[in-house]
Amino acid sequence: MNAREVRKTFLSFFEEHGHTRVPSSSVLPHGDKTLLFTNAGMNQFKDYFTGREKPRFPRATTAQKCIRAGGKHNDLDNVGYTTRHLTFFEMLGNFSFGDYFKEDAIAFAWELVTKRFGISPSRLWITVFRDDGEAREIWRKVAGVGAERIVGLGEKDNFWSMGDTGPCGPCSEILVDRGDAYGPADMDNGERFFEIWNLVFMQFDQKADGSRSPLPRPSIDTGMGLERMAMVLQGVDSVFETDLFRKLIHRVEQITGTRYDSGAAGVPHRVISDHIRSLTFAFADGAEPSNEGRGYVLRRILRRA
Ligand code: SER
Repeated sequence: MNAREVRKTFLSFFEEHGHTRVPSSSVLPHGDKTLLFTNAGMNQFKDYFTGREKPRFPRATTAQKCIRAGGKHNDLDNVGYTTRHLTFFEMLGNFSFGDYFKEDAIAFAWELVTKRFGISPSRLWITVFRDDGEAREIWRKVAGVGAERIVGLGEKDNFWSMGDTGPCGPCSEILVDRGDAYGPADMDNGERFFEIWNLVFMQFDQKADGSRSPLPRPSIDTGMGLERMAMVLQGVDSVFETDLFRKLIHRVEQITGTRYDSGAAGVPHRVISDHIRSLTFAFADGAEPSNEGRGYVLRRILRRA
């Protein structure tokens, strides 16, 4: 399945289930000083979650342009060295603004991944926040996932926050086990237990003083990495080998006269291909390299490329 079909399948599935398809917002967040770049699909809906604004629809679905190269979510230094990290990526998401909660979110995710995308449940693992017995139970009952494949983890892995302040909550991730070739069966091994989707059960608003107040209504925010899902469905070993990157990598080969290598010698091809996407989308949305803030991050990305 090519990436275009992955995106379409995701958005159409949620439209069929009553979600309004909303366009991606800019990678430069407007009117939100807590972010350098849009880092998740939920950013444009932040005020819907906190109750500062009345939602125009109870459910939404998006394919959001994201850049994770600064602030709380920063993957810059990993890019090129792993098969899965990118500074620019598209996040496919479904959102409930006080409408459905855990049970429907889990049922939707399981149906889409195992039926529409056809990934065998035998390859899938689930993580939940260690105190979230409810999510664990729903995975067992609604999706039929065996207890031995549901792993409870702490705040670092399974409690998602947008930044130092803002909406947050316990989360549950769907991982694909890529097998022994990717190293030991250890949950910290992200190359083997490859995260494809994060379901956040939004329940709190994180305050600057460290306290958390409950959101007006429990909500749902999910994010699936388009490039990662394309990788799994195309049966390739790295996001850089998907149809989203093949032409870019090839062009880097042509310009540099150096063949791509999926190992260490391919780091420069991967870095350049990722960074050119971040820069292109950031410039297209109106940013410019400069000496401070967001512009400085872009300058760093450019220099690294
Ligand atoms: N906001 C969550 C994340 O970025 C789910 O989309 O992982």
